[in-house]
Amino acid sequence: MERISRIVVAGGGQAGGQAVDSLRREGFDGEILLVTAENQPPYQRPPLSKDYLAGRCDRDRVLLRPEAFYAEHSIELLTGARIASIDPGAHRVELETGRTLDYDRLLLATGSRVRRLDGMPGSDLEGVLYLRTLEDSDRIRAAMERAERVVVVGGGYIGLEIASVAVEAGRSVTVVEALPRLLSRVATGELAAFYADLHRARGVDLRLGSSVARVRGEGDGGALRSVELSDGTEILADLVVAGIGIEPVTDLARDAGIDCDNGIAVDSGCRTSAPDVFAAGDCTSHPNAFFGRRVRLESVPNAMEQGRVAAATMLGEDRSYESEPWFWSDQHGVRLQMAGLSEGADQTVTRGEFGGDSFITFHLRDGVLIGADAVNGVREFIFCRRLIAARGRPDPAALADPSVPVKTLL
Ligand code: NAI
Repeated sequence: MERISRIVVAGGGQAGGQAVDSLRREGFDGEILLVTAENQPPYQRPPLSKDYLAGRCDRDRVLLRPEAFYAEHSIELLTGARIASIDPGAHRVELETGRTLDYDRLLLATGSRVRRLDGMPGSDLEGVLYLRTLEDSDRIRAAMERAERVVVVGGGYIGLEIASVAVEAGRSVTVVEALPRLLSRVATGELAAFYADLHRARGVDLRLGSSVARVRGEGDGGALRSVELSDGTEILADLVVAGIGIEPVTDLARDAGIDCDNGIAVDSGCRTSAPDVFAAGDCTSHPNAFFGRRVRLESVPNAMEQGRVAAATMLGEDRSYESEPWFWSDQHGVRLQMAGLSEGADQTVTRGEFGGDSFITFHLRDGVLIGADAVNGVREFIFCRRLIAARGRPDPAALADPSVPVKTLL
């Protein structure tokens, strides 16, 4: 078998961080280089809009592995370093500094970048912030300490989690969402309405179906003053945080002639169209058996699982990505966990009272369980995931009955 001497991983997010760990666990004893543009070793992103932003945990707690892990496992960590180009034919990458690195296998785990309000008047004012990195979260936390009025643009997970932290910190918070409802990319209308009620009950001013026309400063380019909506309404603000979605980082792959299709196109083994180049995480689209089509998933469990699969296939193992999607979110002390899909369901049953303290909504299609949304249903959720993965056909009456443990339906 071909000897693999060096593996280069481009990107130190959750997928890249998982992959280097998995390579060692799989027994790879050659060189591993992890090149990341960030100034941190790989860390978990979910806490950045939750406990880390709220100051409830420190940097060490969010690191994916302790700082010493990389040296202990002979993983060379190049932080603050960017790959400028890939030459798949020569099996070589070039860093922005001009340094070149030859590889036997290359993993692209370049993740996503946030969409910005660029082009909107005032969007370049100092108090307009975005959340993606640890430093972004630090900046928002510091700005939130000084701010009284926070305007959040975007009613997706990022916006709502930030709104929740800001309200808890005693700030006055307005969320401006362009569409008529919250969480439109990820949740059903009913669940979105539940979240709208929850946020309103905690004092968040929700402006649905509204868009921001401009951000105003005091005088010319001064401190932030307000946000003006397209209907002319002015909302005072000392801090604006926009969470208006992300897009996959595919530039390196595209420039190298690697196929992209709503993300870097990979097969179920995380292989790209270029020999010995693999990709994992947010930046990829993959054929997903559960969806029955190619999808790009913006999710931590997907990044971790693809990182594991890519590590194995880079080493020549025959491993396939087969996980069903799942997500979670914490807002105002309420934990939401979602697995599978609600789209395409022909039957929906709820366990517990919808809108109560704890309930689970199940989505079925042709009798098969395809999705579950659990609100404060942490103990049952793992079994919901298993039931979905097993393509289970549970009795809807049993699903709806809280006295029947979900695990007995497996
Ligand atoms: P998103 O795509 O989920 O939501 C963006 C929201 O902004 C949408 O509701 C959209 O309609 C709205 N929007 C877009 N342009 C707008 C505009 N100009 N004005 C007002 N509203 C506008 O993306 P989001 O929330 O930024 O999250 C980014 C990524 O981080 C996603 O992949 C998300 O899944 C992930 N994330 C996941 C979390 C979780 O699983 N708990 C928590 C936080 C983030």
